[in-house]
Amino acid sequence: MSPGQAVHARDGALHIEDLSLDALARRFGTPCYVYSRAALTSAYAAWKDALAGRRATICYAVKANSNLAILGVFARLGSGFDIVSGGELARVLAAGGQASRTVFSGVGKSAAEMRLGLEAGVRCFNVESAGELERLNSVAGELDRQAPIALRVNPDVDPKTHPYISTGLKKNKFGVPFEDARTLYARARTLPNLQIRGIACHIGSQLLDPAPIAEATAKLLHLVDRLAADGIELSHLDLGGGMGIRYRDENPPGVAAYLAPMLARLEGRHEELCFEPGRSLVGNAGVLVTRVEYLKYGPEKNFAVVDAAMNDLARPALYDAFHDIRPVAPREVASHVYDVVGPVCESSDFLGHDRELAVEAGDLLAILSAGAYGMTMSSNYNSRPRAAEVMVDGAHAHEIRRRETVEELFALEQTLP
Ligand code: LLP
Repeated sequence: MSPGQAVHARDGALHIEDLSLDALARRFGTPCYVYSRAALTSAYAAWKDALAGRRATICYAVKANSNLAILGVFARLGSGFDIVSGGELARVLAAGGQASRTVFSGVGKSAAEMRLGLEAGVRCFNVESAGELERLNSVAGELDRQAPIALRVNPDVDPKTHPYISTGLKKNKFGVPFEDARTLYARARTLPNLQIRGIACHIGSQLLDPAPIAEATAKLLHLVDRLAADGIELSHLDLGGGMGIRYRDENPPGVAAYLAPMLARLEGRHEELCFEPGRSLVGNAGVLVTRVEYLKYGPEKNFAVVDAAMNDLARPALYDAFHDIRPVAPREVASHVYDVVGPVCESSDFLGHDRELAVEAGDLLAILSAGAYGMTMSSNYNSRPRAAEVMVDGAHAHEIRRRETVEELFALEQTLP
């Protein structure tokens, strides 16, 4: 099993911590997301250790996996949070997270969401446009509050990742153009209900090379110094998330090595740091367990039709993303090459292409590295109830979200009279 994986083989059978995935599937049914608390804790510790001795806040990016139990684990470890909606703020607060350690990102914050953030007392709004600056100033004024802000700037560096998850290029919708930042900070200074605190950037996700984020940091620092010359002092730098993980054969550098070139550029600086890791904290802490319904053999392709689908894990369909797929228990049958597909009526409903597997109908498969952007991007397409979620903690399993019922899927709907 690749390094960092929560799942490991014991006598050939896959386990998470002390529990076998087979026993978990029998107890909770399939499809089912299973997470390891120990893996979450050690991923957080890797970030914490890499930043030891620095004034730095780790703000877990809630969008990667927003289950209350996961947020609660991070809150207890002292993590802050990065949110992009009023809904995510409500989750953080419900899970015991602190607003004062929460940064509010996102390109389209509504006035209502700003109000929620201000009332809760979030640490910083990462503002992404001139229009948002004006709106936040007036919403804060109505509440008679000061809104702490950073501008999210777009440093126009190529993060060398999948185009759908790269965010720091000029053509992306995120952040304010680098060239406009000084003008916008000058404008922000004149707005009475804003308090300028820092600067933010996030250049993309699943980054494996530390060079682009180090380059972005250098660009940001240059801007920070120009702003200081304009009389605008910033006290924090938010360098976003984006650190990649191993899905197949990638060799992610590890947190310390990933941060090293960036931290080298920050030598001797006084600014407090903030990071917004998502995937690197949860991605390899979770798997999706699914059961093979049918094996279909065709002239060109063989299919393992499983009970999980693109509505449960959208990443393969959406980004052609690779997730390793392993039988939960070894089997003495001939292996074949299969496309692992779900029951949804779309040709893009696949979880893996061309996987060599020794399986029979009824067997369980584990889809690895599914802890990040798995459950949070799931849907009810084809009226499929969402999967259960289970957290393993040593020899204990907690159902942290029960499987939906079909009735719940249409509970908000009405037939016409
Ligand atoms: N901060 C901001 C402002 C973000 O937009 C994101 C992710 C993060 C932090 C966390 O990035 P991470 O450390 O997880 O890379 N659904 C896609 C990923 C979308 C990422 C969106 N933004 C996927 O499944 O690969």
